[in-house]
Amino acid sequence: MIDLHGIRKTIPKTQILLFDNMEFSLGEYRSVAITGRSGSGKTTLLKLLAGLDTVYDGVYTFENKIVSKSTSKNIEFRKKNIGLITQNYNLLEDRNVSANIQLALGRKKNTQKVNKLLDLVGLSNYGLKKISEISGGEAQRVAIARALIKKPKVLLADEPTGALDEKTEQEILALLERIKQTGARLIMVTHSDAVAKICDAQFILENGKLLLVNN
Ligand SMILES: Nc1ncnc2c1ncn2[C@@H]1O[C@H](COP(=O)(O)OP(=O)(O)OP(=O)(O)O)[C@@H](O)[C@H]1O
Ligand SMILES: [Mg+2]
Repeated sequence: MIDLHGIRKTIPKTQILLFDNMEFSLGEYRSVAITGRSGSGKTTLLKLLAGLDTVYDGVYTFENKIVSKSTSKNIEFRKKNIGLITQNYNLLEDRNVSANIQLALGRKKNTQKVNKLLDLVGLSNYGLKKISEISGGEAQRVAIARALIKKPKVLLADEPTGALDEKTEQEILALLERIKQTGARLIMVTHSDAVAKICDAQFILENGKLLLVNN
């Protein structure tokens, strides 16, 4: 469904080769964990998969359709099919929880959808709370709800439990399991063994390539 062929990317300015003829196939995996050292390119890879970074050589296909180029058609396609939860959540601090989740819908507001998602992530009564007034774990749930509002086929998450304590991590993991059961597929960047363990496969990003880790 997601396939990368011969992806090459250099970091602008330094010209360091970040991705070196990278190959990847999501295949039948319903969930994949990506690990790797700090600076190895994990966040850059998720941005590439989300279509936010189109400056690279090689071919990216989604459901056999080439989506590497930054055409408006491709951007629409990716927005519809791929949700991204970033490392710092990217929530608007001065807006409330509901408004943040609605963002992706633009003018097509849908309170019912938002409330359903709030129930799913365990924040039923949080709609009117400001982001600046909720905890990190709660913000992570809001970011997950926001990424889900367009029912993406694939959910990309950058360190979904990175800033959380063990108990909150377990709660987020249970939530991600529930999301998996709705049919969405997950690609997660993580340093956590607990997160990697719940995934069907684990890859390590090393020397510009994604290598399958044998469990
Ligand atoms: N916009 C940019 N311009 C220049 N260099 C960049 C840019 N974005 C990332 N880099 C560089 O690319 C490399 C990979 O960064 P990236 O954020 O993908 O790493 P990472 O694996 O996610 O690290 P971490 O585990 O710390 O989050 C780093 O050396 C970083 O400095
Ligand atoms: Mg990163």
